[in-house]
Amino acid sequence: MAQLRAIMADEEQRQASYEAGHERIRFCGYCHGEDGNSKRDYIPNLAAQHPQYLFNQFEKFGDGTREDYVMSQLAKTLTLEERINIAIYFGMQTAKPRPSTDAARVEAGRSLFKIRCAGCHGLDAQGFQDMPRLAGQPSEYLGIALNRFKQMDPTKHSTPMIGIASVLSEEDIQSLAAYLTTR
Ligand code: HEC
Ligand code: HEC
Repeated sequence: MAQLRAIMADEEQRQASYEAGHERIRFCGYCHGEDGNSKRDYIPNLAAQHPQYLFNQFEKFGDGTREDYVMSQLAKTLTLEERINIAIYFGMQTAKPRPSTDAARVEAGRSLFKIRCAGCHGLDAQGFQDMPRLAGQPSEYLGIALNRFKQMDPTKHSTPMIGIASVLSEEDIQSLAAYLTTR
């Protein structure tokens, strides 16, 4: 983490890291998009996501705290340097908002987000350091992620999202997802 911060702070090192990351992400691009805007609604965007957050997720997939058939295996094959370069590369891409066809849900999601979520994820859902950006994520993935937190065992995981997601209804989740994807 200290190494990641040092590289982020130095313009030249960050550029070198970005180029190395670009080489390494060809395979990731099939699912997450070469520019980090995901190709399938159940797959998260990595574009404009904060490098510290991305780096932490590699750690979690790698040590089994977070599980996904593809990602858990992939994370084990990435060296420390590759994790840093990839996190920097995707962090510097631009996330594109997605359309929603459900205007009523978008409005309901907007109010709910302001009250319950903006304090941590930012007023525009842009995130901050290890607080992930949510703006522009595919709505299906947002639903999957919120339900994942809902089902997490609090004795095995420590994230504030367990308590937050546990009080959301399915309707709340749909509204939040509809709103956030359009940001
Ligand atoms: C076959 C498709 C596929 C490939 C290839 C793939 N991923 Fe993923 N990735 C996924 C899916 C699906 C998830 C969501 C898993 C979940 O729901 O927890 C994910 C999640 C992630 C996350 C967590 C994002 C978040 O918002 O929490 C990161 C970071 C990530 N992938 C990075 C990568 C990198 C880097 C590569 C290439 C080395 C890669 N992925 C290749 C499908 C893929
Ligand atoms: C107390 C601070 C806090 C609040 C309030 C909060 N979050 Fe989070 N959220 C986090 C943290 C920290 C993470 C990263 C968890 C991790 O590393 O696994 C996160 C992760 C997420 C993720 C996963 C992102 C991804 O790319 O996989 C989603 C989705 C999410 N939050 C949605 C919400 C919504 C919707 C609300 C409001 C109902 C909310 N959060 C309120 C702190 C917060």
